[in-house]
Amino acid sequence: MKFFVDTAEIADIRELAEAGLIDGVTTNPSLIAKSGRDFREVVAEICKETDGPVSAEVTALDAPGMIREGKSLLEIGKNIAVKVPLTLEGLKACRALTGEGHMVNVTLCFNANQALLAAKAGASFISPFLGRLDDNGIDGMELVEEIRQIYDNFGFDTEIIAASVRTINHVKYAALAGCDIATVPPAILKSLVKHPLTDKGIEQFMADWKKTGQKIL
Ligand code: E4P
Repeated sequence: MKFFVDTAEIADIRELAEAGLIDGVTTNPSLIAKSGRDFREVVAEICKETDGPVSAEVTALDAPGMIREGKSLLEIGKNIAVKVPLTLEGLKACRALTGEGHMVNVTLCFNANQALLAAKAGASFISPFLGRLDDNGIDGMELVEEIRQIYDNFGFDTEIIAASVRTINHVKYAALAGCDIATVPPAILKSLVKHPLTDKGIEQFMADWKKTGQKIL
């Protein structure tokens, strides 16, 4: 499973990229607002940090407006994926932009039928929002399992991005369900490496190594 990082914070992207943990980046208007930075400027910087897809979201609500905004966003970097909402207008924009060979991430997916429509519209990526479904008492993981089955049934090559990831278990179950990608906030991505027995083991090895009085270098 590939990892995208769900953030507009350059320092986090850089640190995770250094560890080889990033296959792409997703942003959204809320993350841009949180960064307090200029949209184009920050997206341009992100594009320099990774060769993988960088999702930048349109804000127009009609297809012609989304296409215009999308084309303008595509000029920022060669790895831009235009993010459009899962509406009929969004699907029209998706069809038009992917038809011209551009990457499109269809976002705000909350049920399997929406995901089926996005694939039929030629989406490069579909983003089911697990955390927001869980917040509303619906099992987000069940949704990604359904999408995986539907896409496999018909051979759609739209990649499934587990989005709105809130817990380390979301990451594990997304991988088990066969999601192609999980887009994960930096704090959760960094916490995946942690285990108390790893820390305890290091502590014990260091204590025993000290007793030997040796040095490697
Ligand atoms: C995905 O592309 C979205 O940016 C993101 O995962 C939304 O997550 P949230 O529900 O935590 O805002």
